[in-house]
Amino acid sequence: MRKPLAAGNWKMHKTLAEARALVSALRAGLEARPGISGRVDVAIFPPATLLFPIAKAVDGSPIVFGAQNAHFEAQGAFTGEVSVPMVKETGAATVLVGHSERRHVFGESADILTRKVAAVLGAGLTCVYCVGETLDEREAGRTERVVGDQLDAALGGGMDLVRVVIAYEPVWAIGTGRTATPQTAQQAHAFIRARLSEMYGQSAAAATRILYGGSVKPGNAAELMAGPDVDGVLVGGACLVADDFLAIIDAVAAG
Ligand code: PGA
Repeated sequence: MRKPLAAGNWKMHKTLAEARALVSALRAGLEARPGISGRVDVAIFPPATLLFPIAKAVDGSPIVFGAQNAHFEAQGAFTGEVSVPMVKETGAATVLVGHSERRHVFGESADILTRKVAAVLGAGLTCVYCVGETLDEREAGRTERVVGDQLDAALGGGMDLVRVVIAYEPVWAIGTGRTATPQTAQQAHAFIRARLSEMYGQSAAAATRILYGGSVKPGNAAELMAGPDVDGVLVGGACLVADDFLAIIDAVAAG
C-alpha cells in the first residue's frame, strides 16, 4: 500500500547543461520502462538555482522535483537563503529538511528544523524529513534515542503526516561507501514506524513512507529494499549518473 519512492539528492552538483543532460537521460530511461511509474515514484533534488529550468526539463515526465533546503520564514533579511514560497513558485512539490549535512555541516538545530518542517507543510508541499545518528551515537547505543528525539522535535506538533516522508540516513553511511546492512536499516525503520504509530496512530504510521539513505548503489539497493519497512531510498552520489540511478529505480520498483 506504500508506493516506493526513489529520490536523488544532487547536493552541490551539476551545471545547467549537465542537469539537462541528466534529466533527459533519466526521462529516456523511464520511457524505456513501460509501467514503471505505476510501481515507483521518482524524485530529484537539484540545487536551488536549477529549480526553474528543471521544472521545464521534467514537464510531462513522471519525475517530481524538490529543493534540498528552504528557510522557515517566507521572506526577510536572510542573506543567502531561499524561502518555501520561492521554492513552491518553481513548481517544486517537495523539500528536504534535516539532511545530515544541514544538521552537522551547517549546524541547523532541532528548533530550526522544526520550523522548517512546519513551513514546508504549511505551504502545502511534501516534506522529506531526514533523521539519523552519528557513528559515536550508534557506538554508544544511542541510535533510537537520537532518532526518536529527531522525530519528536519536528513532528511532535501534530503535523499532517500524509505529506511527510521520513528518510533514515545514518550519518556514518553518507558518502562513506559504508552502507547499513539490510538488517540494521530494517531495525531502524521499524523503530521509526513504531514511533510514528505512537505519535499519529497505527494507520497513519502504516501509510508513511520511510526511505533509507547512505551509500545506496545499484549493487545494494535490492537487498536494502527487502526490509518490510524500507519504502524506498534517498540517493546521493549514485543519483548523479543516469544509468546508476535508473538501476536503483529498478531495484526500488521491484522491492
Ligand atoms: P550518498 O548520500 O548516497 O552519497 O551516501 C546520501 C545522502 O546524503 O542523501
